Amino acid sequence: MSDTAHQTPNPIFVAIDTDDVAVASSSAARLAGVVGGIKLGKQFFMANGPEGVRAVLPDALRRSLPLFIDLKLHDIPNTVAGAVTSLARSLAPAYLTLHASGGAAMIAAARAAAETFGADRPRLLAVTVLTSMSDADLAEVGVPGRAEAQVVRLGRLAIANGADGLVCSPREIAPLRAALGDGPLLVTPGIRPAGAALGDQKRVMTPAEAMAAGASRMVIGRPITGAADPAAAAQAILDEIGADHAGVAR
Ligand code: C5P
Repeated sequence: MSDTAHQTPNPIFVAIDTDDVAVASSSAARLAGVVGGIKLGKQFFMANGPEGVRAVLPDALRRSLPLFIDLKLHDIPNTVAGAVTSLARSLAPAYLTLHASGGAAMIAAARAAAETFGADRPRLLAVTVLTSMSDADLAEVGVPGRAEAQVVRLGRLAIANGADGLVCSPREIAPLRAALGDGPLLVTPGIRPAGAALGDQKRVMTPAEAMAAGASRMVIGRPITGAADPAAAAQAILDEIGADHAGVAR
């Protein structure tokens, strides 16, 4: 990959979960240089659209803060391909998400659409099983057995059909690395520095544990955005994992 934005050595993507453009903008500006990128999701995008995203990440910030746009696309292949094209044109995200359960043709169509944007194309991260789903919830929608088996099944399918990586819970990193090797990007939320409030996260790992388990990137929200000094909180996490974040503008 030629684009350093996709290879930033800082593995922290901060989840900015708000519908307020001013709040998101000030978070982004304060965190430039201490996080590897910004994740904006459905709450922000539904309220503010691409224009709001551009307000949070003006061109001057884009180099140091790659965009992870988390809309978890899931539709027929033609529609998902169109959505990928529209997102790439309007926002040029470094990463976007889609549901692996959309199937092989949907994932392949998304990859084909992304490829037309060349080396700086968005990287596709597939969501396997939502971590809010228990084994019993999965059985109710016709998937009997352990959630972990479905995670690995969908992970293989996604990577085989063109996803660059997967979003997974920290405890799924080891089985996914065992099944898929070192190639795929594994991006994990559910990260809590030692001593941080869990909030609604139930099964967490510390940043150092997740990186040791084989995570490529971490999505961290409230432990950074809710801190009295968010930049200091992000820096403390970097110090904990010993990440080399040279090359990212301070
Ligand atoms: O504040 P916190 O660190 O819990 O934020 C985690 C982010 O990752 C949120 O944006 C949340 O929606 C997202 N996420 C998650 N668990 C998943 C998938 C996404 O926490 N399984």
